Amino acid sequence: MTTLALRPYRPHDAGSTAGVYQAAIRVTAAQHYDHDQVQAWAGTEIDLARWNHNRSAAWTVVAEQDGIIVGFADLTADGELDMLFVHPQAGGRGVARQLVAAILAEARRREFRSITTHASRAARPALERLGFVVDAENLENTVHAVAVPNFDMHIDL
Ligand SMILES: CC(C)(COP(=O)(O)OP(=O)(O)OC[C@H]1O[C@@H](n2cnc3c(N)ncnc32)[C@H](O)[C@@H]1OP(=O)(O)O)[C@@H](O)C(=O)NCCC(=O)NCCS
Repeated sequence: MTTLALRPYRPHDAGSTAGVYQAAIRVTAAQHYDHDQVQAWAGTEIDLARWNHNRSAAWTVVAEQDGIIVGFADLTADGELDMLFVHPQAGGRGVARQLVAAILAEARRREFRSITTHASRAARPALERLGFVVDAENLENTVHAVAVPNFDMHIDL
């Protein structure tokens, strides 16, 4: 029996979290987007210095199982859940539920009244289950000039 542990992101987590990000897009999100969309979104080689800068700029939390990072999420200074990614091999076991609970707790601590997110087609059902509601579909959302439609969602706290 293994337990999931949540802890704050640290700079040496850059490679692991980038790996979870790319696997989640290439395997899980790929069920909802075509090849070009997945390639544009997942990227090829991630610049880890820049990645670390962005993860460190937000309040980022990682989920570890047996010392291995299986997911991460973040909360930006303006109240956006910007990143929510769970490794496909750890999917469907409540990792996102715990990550989102941590994000909501931090948002309440900061006295935010709501959180917004731009949810992929892959994340929308899980986020709805966790209490977010859809405000609009973004058919024009682009990543590196490729259309990758997603949904504006929010949750009131
Ligand atoms: C979306 C994602 C983060 C969900 O992670 P996960 O750990 O598998 O999700 P959980 O197991 O914690 O599920 C959370 C809740 O949503 C429900 N849920 C998850 N996927 C669902 C689906 N497709 N349909 C309906 N409910 C779903 C779960 O049953 C669970 O509810 P419960 O605890 O009441 O049973 C993960 O699939 C992922 O990384 N996807 C690809 C990347 C992506 O699109 N990220 C978002 C970027 S905007």
